[in-house]
Amino acid sequence: MDTVRIFDTTLRDGEQSPGASLNRAEKIEIARQLETLGVDIIEAGFPITSNDDFEAVKTIAGELGRATVCGLSRCVAADVDRAGEAVKNAAHGRIHVFCATSKIHLEHKFKKAFDEIVKISVDHIERARGFVDDVEFSPEDASRTELNHLVEITGAAIDAGATTINLPDTVGYATPEEYGRIFSYLREQLPVIDAKGIILSAHCHNDLGLAVANSLAAAMNGARQIECTINGIGERAGNASLEEVVMAMNTRGDYYDLTTKIKTKEIYRTSRMVSKLTGLDVQRNKAIIGENAFAHEAGIHQDGILKERTTYEIMDPRDVGIPESKLVLGKHSGRHAFRARIEELGYSVDDAAVDRLFTKFKALADRKKNVYDEDIEALLESDLDSASRTDLWSLAYLQVNGGTHPIATATVTITDSSGETRTDASTGDGPIDAIYSAIQRITGVTAELTDYQIRAVTGGKDAMGEVRVELRHHDTRVRGRGVSTDVIEASALAYLAAINRLRSLDYRTAEAASTAHP
Ligand code: KIV
Ligand code: ZN
Repeated sequence: MDTVRIFDTTLRDGEQSPGASLNRAEKIEIARQLETLGVDIIEAGFPITSNDDFEAVKTIAGELGRATVCGLSRCVAADVDRAGEAVKNAAHGRIHVFCATSKIHLEHKFKKAFDEIVKISVDHIERARGFVDDVEFSPEDASRTELNHLVEITGAAIDAGATTINLPDTVGYATPEEYGRIFSYLREQLPVIDAKGIILSAHCHNDLGLAVANSLAAAMNGARQIECTINGIGERAGNASLEEVVMAMNTRGDYYDLTTKIKTKEIYRTSRMVSKLTGLDVQRNKAIIGENAFAHEAGIHQDGILKERTTYEIMDPRDVGIPESKLVLGKHSGRHAFRARIEELGYSVDDAAVDRLFTKFKALADRKKNVYDEDIEALLESDLDSASRTDLWSLAYLQVNGGTHPIATATVTITDSSGETRTDASTGDGPIDAIYSAIQRITGVTAELTDYQIRAVTGGKDAMGEVRVELRHHDTRVRGRGVSTDVIEASALAYLAAINRLRSLDYRTAEAASTAHP
């Protein structure tokens, strides 16, 4: 069986999902879990876009030992240099250079002739080779690029030193047969690919729901790297989902005759971590890791499963790491058991974080009898959420008068990063409206609330409430979450988290604008 490399781009293309921006601490936590999962390459970010992205890629590169750490770069000298700087301390570093090649992009985006695109690509691949031996080149929108142009630019990229050629279906337009044919055609036209061991790679978007099928078709035609994301998150309808690609090859090894190095038992844990930290819920019927993926409702199915599991299950849920029973902690649980549980959930924490979290855990265990995995994940999330932000507003005090009267009043005190506190009060159409108005008055940030969701983290009357909000400020959308046994407090925390993210994004945008494409 041939091995297909898994290139995970959750932290780059995945993070481009609207509202899913991750802070540095969250990215590092996910990168560690991706390495445990066994991915071969982690695209950790796009270093030129912000200092935060640069630092995240640099830290991940310095920390990981087995996985290759990759930074994305346009064909711009400053981009390549920044990506090179970010991955220079990696045990295995890669620069991923891309340039659009389709007619539609050339005419409307670049206003350049194809020959110029080839030259620019070659120059920047060579520049990237000055930093690392492992350079990937992507002709963006490859699936809509004329085949003769793809052959030409691929040949030139290989001559310039690219070792992996990725052929993105950038807009999710291809069909499996067409996309697979691109790979076999390139291999026929350019024998150098197989002769030199150049890796062809698939990168598929899911606009027509074909991203996984297209990726598998590419693998059947010689692609030996698949680019994908956890839970299929990514631009628009997302990218090919890692868990679906891997489990298809795993379950249907008889058909595909291909394997990966993924430790499938880590899939569920990784999926939950990414969902929690990005704030992007997994749909219930999502293949492999959705809540219903292994649930059987019909009586005939339940009867069959009881008699023989394989009558209605093609995969064993234990193979993707779905836990059989949940361990429950309570107020008598010690620090050791608490830390062990955190580690079993896939998080790596230092002693200081355990101290901080254990104090919060004890406070929670005093308020509710049983503390479940979901409760611990909620504590971890909010800790990571604030870990790499120093410039935050935080909630110091909250009082709400409401009841059945339609007009509610909220008094809010907020502390800023310098330790200064400000208090203001506001009325509103219900308690949440009143709190959000008071927060807007204090922070001076006005944003439109475009989504508000509330749910119980676990079952039971004493469950923690989780609130997720989405705010829109001009063209920027951000998410925030808050967790507390008091849902009014959770609502305030979620709103403040979103406003804090908005502010850190303002900084990022300002930095990116100062390094815009020439
Ligand atoms: O979809 C795409 O074309 C990309 C490239 C940057 C590889 O994400
Ligand atoms: Zn993409």
